[in-house]
Amino acid sequence: MAKLDSTIKARANRRSFLKNGIAAAGAVTVGAGMLSGGLSALGAVSSSGITEGDAAVLRFLAAAEILETDLWQQYTELGGVHAPPSAYQTGLQQLDADMPQYISDNTDDEKSHELFINAYLMSKGAKPVNLEPFRNLEGSEVTVIPGIDGKRRLTNLMQLSVDTSWWTRYRSGNQNPDLGDTFPNAVPTLVKGKFTAIPRNDAELGLAVTTTPVNNHIQAIANTAGFHFAFIEQGGTSLYAAMAQKVTSLEVLRIVLSIGGTEIMHFQTWHDKAGNAIPLTDGTLVFPDLKNDIPQPESLQSNLIMPEPTVFLSKKFPVCSIIRPTATKDVAMGAVNGLTKDGLFMGQSPDFFEFLKDLAHEADEAQRQI
Ligand SMILES: [Fe+2]
Ligand SMILES: [Fe+2]
Repeated sequence: MAKLDSTIKARANRRSFLKNGIAAAGAVTVGAGMLSGGLSALGAVSSSGITEGDAAVLRFLAAAEILETDLWQQYTELGGVHAPPSAYQTGLQQLDADMPQYISDNTDDEKSHELFINAYLMSKGAKPVNLEPFRNLEGSEVTVIPGIDGKRRLTNLMQLSVDTSWWTRYRSGNQNPDLGDTFPNAVPTLVKGKFTAIPRNDAELGLAVTTTPVNNHIQAIANTAGFHFAFIEQGGTSLYAAMAQKVTSLEVLRIVLSIGGTEIMHFQTWHDKAGNAIPLTDGTLVFPDLKNDIPQPESLQSNLIMPEPTVFLSKKFPVCSIIRPTATKDVAMGAVNGLTKDGLFMGQSPDFFEFLKDLAHEADEAQRQI
């Protein structure tokens, strides 16, 4: 009993347990179950059958989806299908005429992911994730579209350092990040500065200016968005593939695989569109010509949008066309760090980072129970 008491105390001392894990009511039930069922059940299963690990995985994914929704909403307000015609939107359409529709649809998808995962968590007696207390960031100051200026955001899209190494990673036929390999950026300058992916004001929006070519600076903003879309969604692609390996319940696995599949579809779409970014120079930002520069190495060639078969698990196996990376170690914390480096959380509070890292830590601790 002394051991049981100390174990309970240790768990209770984990600040994040009640804060982030199974709802308090669920925790009480777990405690009661432990007393009758012994230590083997310690904290493993909530009152309604979802494991603590599964809840932690879903909670981190819910947080990621809330953040995705927030950033996609900003893109939709300024460039989506219901946004008024503007130079920014026309700049986006240089990547594909259907960009506004795709942006709006990606936003709808993220919102549905967020709402579904939180509803599922609640149906299992687990706490949903709420990031509303952290909705404090200032966004675009565009005033010519009502409702944008002054709206508080969770994410910042105006000082991004967009990593484009996913581009070369998916074109490599003999390297894999899970085997320790690193990859060069397709747009090296984009990761070196802080660039906006949305119009910060009316001038950068260019309302009703739909002539082409688009103003060079506004096209640079649209190009940045185009690469950022793919950066975000390739992250989701890997995150879900990794998380699937950590869950226990078949139903939770079904959720993770089914939502994760749509992240892959998003990534594939944006990967194709980013290759159409207009080559240009805007200050220190240089978008190379990924379509026509001859000779173009395969590592940059814009129409190679299918994952090149590469080494997987071990170099002793034949190469295989795969999502990459998919290793599970510290994957959630890696996602938090990756998005932080991206600049997405610029200006967020220490409390925000603490909350998000608690969720990531819990998810990284989750292990499939056999
Ligand atoms: Fe999503
Ligand atoms: Fe997504």
